[in-house]
Amino acid sequence: ESTLAAAAEQTGRYFGTAIAAGKLGDSQYTTIANREFNMITAENEMKIDATEPNRGQFNFSNGDRIYNWAVQNGKRVRGHTLAWHNQQPYWMQQLEGYDLRQAMINHINGVVGHYKGKIYAWDVVNEAFDDGNSGARRNSNLQRTGNDWIEVAFRTARAADPDAKLCYNDYNIDNWNWAKTQAVYNMVRDFKSRGVPIDCVGLQSHFNSNSPYNPNYRTTIQSFAALGVDVQITELDIQGGSASTYASVVNDCLAVPRCTGITVWGVRDTDSWLGSQASALLFDGNGNKKAAYTAVLNALNGG
Ligand code: G3I
Repeated sequence: ESTLAAAAEQTGRYFGTAIAAGKLGDSQYTTIANREFNMITAENEMKIDATEPNRGQFNFSNGDRIYNWAVQNGKRVRGHTLAWHNQQPYWMQQLEGYDLRQAMINHINGVVGHYKGKIYAWDVVNEAFDDGNSGARRNSNLQRTGNDWIEVAFRTARAADPDAKLCYNDYNIDNWNWAKTQAVYNMVRDFKSRGVPIDCVGLQSHFNSNSPYNPNYRTTIQSFAALGVDVQITELDIQGGSASTYASVVNDCLAVPRCTGITVWGVRDTDSWLGSQASALLFDGNGNKKAAYTAVLNALNGG
């Protein structure tokens, strides 16, 4: 096959990208995105600050622009993200305790309800664990509402849309040896044992010199999958753009049946949150396929 989406489809997987609403008028961008990818994540437009700028007043204009572009072009959509310490609107940043808990629940009901039946998978909770060696939860206003905030978020999302897969999404949980990975693993195991609704784990997979790709990535994917959840690679980018590292990531996903798809976090290097000099994506700033693109395509094609 000659596109990422078609090549991934051969094994029943998807290949996705993050899309920014402000770039939907850039024909080079939309041409590449439409040709190569069949799963779409809004890079910012379905986040809390975008969808509920004022408390109780929802705004889906940019989220819907991305959703409609995706569906009109035959693609599915991952929802990103419902409960997160970052990109909270100012009003939410001021909340604590019971009031914040209610606001979180209301936010999830509002956003998941708006897209009910339309989303392949929601990143229900994003980045709730601390970096470093503690394995602790990240200190945030959401965490301070009580340790059960994550499962409340998942139960709320399940009730609001029983058909969407519900994911926990984080970075630095790709290296099996890290305490953060083990902490998330233990949470997912606990949720499965207690019947808390969770369907998938998103490995963001932002690789750089501080958190490089490690070959134990495959063990991480296999271990989460063995708990009875899908694994999705949700925000892949690799600083420096190593073709062989990209191929390793793809091959590790292909090795695990429950690794259901891969999303790269942007189309061209110039679209990356890391800046174009990071050379972290599959297309250069002129829209040309990079060596990393060819490595990914070949891996998806089985060789
Ligand atoms: O839209 C405003 C614009 O009006 C303003 O002029 C400009 C000036 O700074 O800022 C623009 O907003 C920026 C927004 O991206 C859109 O470009 C924000 O400042 C900037 O903070 C925001 O960054 C996003 C970041 O999440 C915020 O946390 C990145 O685009 C986005 O790629 C990044 O994505 C995250 C995932 O959601 C979660 N995992 C990590 C990943 C990378 O950080």
